[in-house]
Amino acid sequence: MTGIAITGSGSATPTLAVDNHMLSELVETSDEWIASRTGILERRLADPQTSLSAIATMAAQNAIAMAGIMPIDIDLIILATSSADDLFGSACQVQAELGANRAVAFDLTAACSGFVFGLVTAAQYIRTGVYQNILLIGADMLSRWVDWSDRSTCVLFGDGAGAVVLQANKQDRWLGFELRSDGRQNNSLNIAYQGEAKELFEGATISQGTYHPVTMNGQEVYRFAVQKVPEVIEKALYRANLSVEGVDWLLLHQANQRILDAIAHRLKIPPEKVISNLAHYGNTSAASIPLALDEQVRQGKIKPGDTIVTSGFGAGLTWGAAIFQWGR
Ligand code: ACO
Repeated sequence: MTGIAITGSGSATPTLAVDNHMLSELVETSDEWIASRTGILERRLADPQTSLSAIATMAAQNAIAMAGIMPIDIDLIILATSSADDLFGSACQVQAELGANRAVAFDLTAACSGFVFGLVTAAQYIRTGVYQNILLIGADMLSRWVDWSDRSTCVLFGDGAGAVVLQANKQDRWLGFELRSDGRQNNSLNIAYQGEAKELFEGATISQGTYHPVTMNGQEVYRFAVQKVPEVIEKALYRANLSVEGVDWLLLHQANQRILDAIAHRLKIPPEKVISNLAHYGNTSAASIPLALDEQVRQGKIKPGDTIVTSGFGAGLTWGAAIFQWGR
């Protein structure tokens, strides 16, 4: 059984910062409403010249440098995203931009759970001895898919990218995980395809269209997160043979401060162990966990050997938790 370690992190965000006051010029809202209901104060938005693969590549370069390897050492690249530049996937573009010519590359779509699902996927390849060096990126630009006239969703999201490097390691730092999906609640949160019938010739009609902007039942998603995430974390802790007291950091998908607080409260994890940076980035979907992780690591708050419980949750519905110790 090969040991697994997460040895590097990196992140990248667009430079344009849009605060709540600026949004109140666009839709009927206020800084007070957004801040008190979500904890979000500002978010970064990508300009038309910035591609998803460009910010994903930047985040990846930072993670690779921290891990102390070269792009050519990477065996596999997983890009967790729901807003790829190309519907066929953007991981290969990132591979080319990095010059990671040996790496196999593919996209993984699991919305806001994408990073945790990617982490577990990457861990299996190392565990089985198939690959030694894996780059996992979580990147999203939901600004492309938000209805900017819908105040109930447009205030929530921001753009960004985060990445980690997982490596085969003498010491095993991977402690446990649990993943879940429930398609019966699929209509709570969607960027759904909408097409119109187009008759090619008699007897052959196909559909042509594009994706409809984000639709969300906010209260349903809130209830789902607060109920299901503590359950899945408890299951992962059980698998890791750990108690809540053994957790140094709770690193949740940065959806909403009230969701973070409620989950931490249910798990009896004190606020000082709960990582939160959504005030400055909003909900960056698959990017939110590695973005927050990278910030804490670079500020020296997360130290080698610290035990981190991470959990993603979102559209699908999908949710999951993974537990690991930071560093080699
Ligand atoms: N500014 C001002 N008023 C608003 C805004 C806004 N931006 N958005 C909605 N409102 C209004 C509504 O129209 C409603 O008005 P009404 O009572 O006159 O109809 C009122 O505020 C209350 O709306 P609710 O939807 O009941 O507000 P709620 O307290 O549920 O808060 C929120 C909404 C913040 C979205 C909450 O439901 C939530 O946090 N849900 C979780 C969703 C989430 O985090 N999604 C992220 C994506 S999913 C993921 O990452 C897991």
